[in-house]
Amino acid sequence: MELDLSQTDHLLTTTRAVRKRMDLERPVPRELILDCLRVAIQAPTGGNTQRWRWIVVDEPDKKAALADMYRAGWKPYLEQSKQARADQGLDPETAVSDSADYLADRMHEVPAMLIPCLLDRGDGPGYWGSVIPAAWSFMLAARSRGLGTVLTTIHLFSERDAADLLGIPDTVSQAALIPIGYYTGDDFKPAKRRPVEEITYWNTWKQTDPTA
Ligand SMILES: Cc1cc2nc3c(=O)[nH]c(=O)nc-3n(C[C@H](O)[C@H](O)[C@H](O)COP(=O)(O)O)c2cc1C
Repeated sequence: MELDLSQTDHLLTTTRAVRKRMDLERPVPRELILDCLRVAIQAPTGGNTQRWRWIVVDEPDKKAALADMYRAGWKPYLEQSKQARADQGLDPETAVSDSADYLADRMHEVPAMLIPCLLDRGDGPGYWGSVIPAAWSFMLAARSRGLGTVLTTIHLFSERDAADLLGIPDTVSQAALIPIGYYTGDDFKPAKRRPVEEITYWNTWKQTDPTA
């Protein structure tokens, strides 16, 4: 089957971090989350180990507890990054920090949260690379179904507390917390990025000329 590039490229270039446009009122059916996960677990893993588990949190009390942990990590992180920007003579306020702050304040209201987990404690590229591609596939599958997501990591400052809350054993790692909700509005636009030619090198570091 030939893929429709206008559709696939549109999906890949417009899957944005959805925060202010997440519909906090409309519940997300569990079956729809499972559909997205069914797509996501086709993603690659090192050695095809598939040592992932997926925890979906949609109980209000547990969402509220995770949101408190998130905010406890977020507020100092925000202050620190604003200070760092101010020290560099940059405007401390950015669109991302404003939008992320908005989400932090409402984190308990998101319809569902997904925590991708790995059945081992580890580190390094082969380790995280065995769950993040699937997490991104989940986000793409969600976007295709009218759902917005955003990959967040701030709750990991309280990873142990989150594990206790959810009954996750000591041997398991959490990779992220992905809020899930329907998005409002029709569509998203590709984001501004540096031209790919400037950041792609051919055979030698900093060799940007593809004809060289
Ligand atoms: C590893 C990683 C960690 C992130 N952590 C957070 C987070 O804790 N909170 C948050 O609001 N966004 C988080 N983000 C989302 C980024 O801020 C977002 O992807 C980036 O600003 C680009 O926005 P866009 O996806 O709309 O282009 C994270 C993204 C990645 C890839």
